[in-house]
Amino acid sequence: MVRPRILVIGAGMVGSTSAASIAARNLGTVCLYDIEENLAMGRAMDINHCLPSRGSDSLVAGYNDLAEAGPADIVVIAAGMARTAGMTRFDLLRSNARVIESLAPVIAARCPGARVLVVTNPVDVLTWHMGSLCPDLKVMGLGCSLDTIRLRHLIARAAGVSAASVAAMVMGTHDDNMIPLVSRASIGGIPAMALLNPADVPDIIRQTRTAGGAIVNLMKTHSGHYAAGEIVALVVESMAMDRGMVFPVSVRVSGEYGYRDICLSLPCVIDAQGIRRVIELDLEEEERALLAVCARCMAEQVRTLRS
Ligand code: 2OP
Repeated sequence: MVRPRILVIGAGMVGSTSAASIAARNLGTVCLYDIEENLAMGRAMDINHCLPSRGSDSLVAGYNDLAEAGPADIVVIAAGMARTAGMTRFDLLRSNARVIESLAPVIAARCPGARVLVVTNPVDVLTWHMGSLCPDLKVMGLGCSLDTIRLRHLIARAAGVSAASVAAMVMGTHDDNMIPLVSRASIGGIPAMALLNPADVPDIIRQTRTAGGAIVNLMKTHSGHYAAGEIVALVVESMAMDRGMVFPVSVRVSGEYGYRDICLSLPCVIDAQGIRRVIELDLEEEERALLAVCARCMAEQVRTLRS
């Protein structure tokens, strides 16, 4: 199998942690770009020094010129402002939309046919924005994939089992409206509800929804990045190795779940082509109502972006 070139745009905490996790998984050549002079080169050197102990022969190269960093088969966009204490993800919309607008023409020209994973927040609406600016690229967003590993961790803690045995999903949008589907989770093939105390469930849902904000409020100047880097690398692995893993990535819907022309985080099969298919669940009435809230809020953000 030809190993892909993977371009990570943005060498801040999330971008560089993603580059390190991708390189540790030995998925291909990693190109790390940042607008700040020398930052990506320094991060690349540091990451490369970790790789011998990981048994990886990937190489990370740092760039300060995006045109030089391409072409790439897979592009991860982690550039832009991160939240600081007291901010919501939507406070970043205008400034990070401009970052996407500056990157889109270069990525379209230098990486035709690339699969693009948007990580920058607010991720669902910026995935929509990137997809609108680059209709020929295969664009998806990290969406609720990060929330899903947080939910797995919280269920494992409450049930007293290994998180490795927990399968679970969060869908909707990567914001306060996200839908942690605890009632659909399983532990070693057993419905999770059989091992959970029902009284713990509201707290598991609340903590999943607020985890990102709680981390920012503790760290003050930036958001979480270890879990984000790990899940970015897993989604990239599914593309690079054509694995067909299922993640609730952000996808532009064209009729799925009854919605069109917005991005929602929905369970998708991810393979070498990007999104192979969106999995349509038969949602309960309450879940449908929660998804309608996500869709309304997303449509409002799309209007804000267009105005
Ligand atoms: C988070 O939830 C940064 O949105 C990201 O941690």
